[in-house]
Amino acid sequence: MRIGVLTGGGDCPGLNAVIRAVVRKGESVYGHSFVGFRDGWRGPLTGDTVPLDTAAVRGILPRGGTILGSSRTNPYAAVDGPSLIRENLAAAEIDALVAIGGEDTLGVAAQLHAEGLPVVGVPKTIDNDLFATDYTFGFDTAVNIATEAIDRLHTTAESHHRVLIVEVMGRHAGWIALHSGMAGGANVILIPERPFDFDKVCAFVEARFATHYAPIIVAAEGATPIAGTLVTREGELDAFGHVRLQGIAQVLETEIRGRTGRDARATVLGHLQRGGTPTAFDRWLATRFGLHAVDAVHEGDFGVMVALHGTRIDRVPLAEATRELKTVPEELYNEAETFFG
Ligand code: F6P
Repeated sequence: MRIGVLTGGGDCPGLNAVIRAVVRKGESVYGHSFVGFRDGWRGPLTGDTVPLDTAAVRGILPRGGTILGSSRTNPYAAVDGPSLIRENLAAAEIDALVAIGGEDTLGVAAQLHAEGLPVVGVPKTIDNDLFATDYTFGFDTAVNIATEAIDRLHTTAESHHRVLIVEVMGRHAGWIALHSGMAGGANVILIPERPFDFDKVCAFVEARFATHYAPIIVAAEGATPIAGTLVTREGELDAFGHVRLQGIAQVLETEIRGRTGRDARATVLGHLQRGGTPTAFDRWLATRFGLHAVDAVHEGDFGVMVALHGTRIDRVPLAEATRELKTVPEELYNEAETFFG
């Protein structure tokens, strides 16, 4: 078989580990050959390919980013997008496709599969918000980067008796905020799933100062105040219609200063959380996802996504995996709340 591989959406530590595992097992165990498509769905849409074999994947296991490049191209937003993809895959003599991505990339994969394309999905996102898998790779790396940042911010916050607000990624789900906030001993954690009461946030801040410690607030970028209590800004939309959020940490900084008279500073971790080398856990998970994805392709089991359940890798229908987002359940947030204030 000749198998195409693409990586779409926001990049994520561990993408190269998946590519390596797919190619290494596909070539050495099954005798298949591979073609890389550049920049997510833009590759098959425009026929932009790159050679991909065992030599090309040597040394990439610990490297962040993706050797194939990525984009948020949505073929369904392009004129004749799906037909162009079919034509380009036929021209490159591709028998099957491995699509490595998050909700958007895999949503496209699910639609294309429903229209007859032989595709297998691999879940990636630092946000960990893909339904049907316990974890996505990239998440553990992002949580570790955010936790290290929180640890460092604790000491400077205490020296200056300041409130430090750390904004982490997560537009729709607060997994990074929850895990790094708990690991870093945050004073309060704000997530999109639970609109926050600004009066309570100020009370937590004062309670922490009363104990002679400085408060650290960890806020997911999609955290929102209870309707009407604070005004936040929204930016432009991407190709999948997602709003680029701007500045919850900045809003909190200004409001906390105004309301409490305390010095407050915002730190936005942004793309630091997605860059650099993956943790051992993410390399392990990404490698296993790659091995199982190429098994599915070899067996002709298309329209599935590989998923982690406990320590087992299963296959779940792509349509089911992309039906809804996995958000933070109430009981997990309640656990974290024990340490607020
Ligand atoms: O989906 C991954 C993610 O890193 C989100 O956490 C974040 O909201 C978004 O991508 C940022 O996208 P971009 O890199 O396109 O600004």
